[in-house]
Amino acid sequence: MNQTATAKPVAATRLDTPAIELDNVSCRFITADGNVTVALRDFSMSVARGEFVAVVGPTGCGKSTTLSLITGLLKPTIGEVRVMGEPVNGIDPRIGFVFQNDAVFPWRSVRDNVAAGPLFRGKPKEAAYELANEWIRRVGLDKFGDHYPHQLSGGMRKRVALAQTFINSPEILLMDEPFSALDMQTRTLMQDELLQLWSAHSGSVVFVTHDLEEAIALADKVYVLTARPATLKSTYQIDLPRPRVMEEVRYEQRFIDISRKIWADLREEVQIR
Ligand SMILES: Nc1ncnc2c1ncn2[C@@H]1O[C@H](COP(=O)(O)OP(=O)(O)OP(=O)(O)O)[C@@H](O)[C@H]1O
Ligand SMILES: [Mg+2]
Repeated sequence: MNQTATAKPVAATRLDTPAIELDNVSCRFITADGNVTVALRDFSMSVARGEFVAVVGPTGCGKSTTLSLITGLLKPTIGEVRVMGEPVNGIDPRIGFVFQNDAVFPWRSVRDNVAAGPLFRGKPKEAAYELANEWIRRVGLDKFGDHYPHQLSGGMRKRVALAQTFINSPEILLMDEPFSALDMQTRTLMQDELLQLWSAHSGSVVFVTHDLEEAIALADKVYVLTARPATLKSTYQIDLPRPRVMEEVRYEQRFIDISRKIWADLREEVQIR
């Protein structure tokens, strides 16, 4: 009883803090030959607990950089990045990251790749492999558990990476164009799977994509970035009802209206490049 009584106020304060905050962040790269690239300029973003945010913007503007700042792989030149109210300091185990490029272990089978997270977190071997098999099935790779990444297609490797991340039920899920290598059908399946997973676990998601329709169909809020150096162009609250079914939502009139509006905004930036 006592525990419940003390746990409540703590949980209440914690839930008030956004899951992710970027506060007037700028990020500058200096390359070996002395060239300076400003990837982000004076950029602010706030992701609430349980919120699904999509980030769109022209190629090379700084979207992947934004995710690297949240994971702690990069530090901002100016400004601050906070996760669960604390400044980012190193790699946070509460964050799951699906990279733009494959990040599976080439020397491990599909099953060993997917089980790696739970094993690393101390789950008993049998339970870890049982869970891994379940996830391998969910991403449609049940016949490929013993294969090695080089024996798979690009899209299949991507599905391994998704299973590898989802299996850990991360509190914060960062995804960098995770579905772009997949065919339309698998892509739709994975998007639905992602939405189900997210609604069941109520984690926060930052989803980077080039595909505006994908962003609108999935997210609560869409951030549109300007051409490089990226700063915030606009944000859109997506008030389409949930649950959303991927094959259906894109044909709704409200969806089409929102797409048209955001696309007008994004087009200006794509044309700047
Ligand atoms: N480590 C780095 N060193 C130097 N420049 C970098 C580094 N990382 C990114 N950049 C530069 O910063 C800019 C933004 O890169 P970023 O990868 O964030 O873009 P992006 O919006 O994800 O693009 P895309 O849509 O093509 O994936 C680019 O000009 C890129 O060349
Ligand atoms: Mg990128």
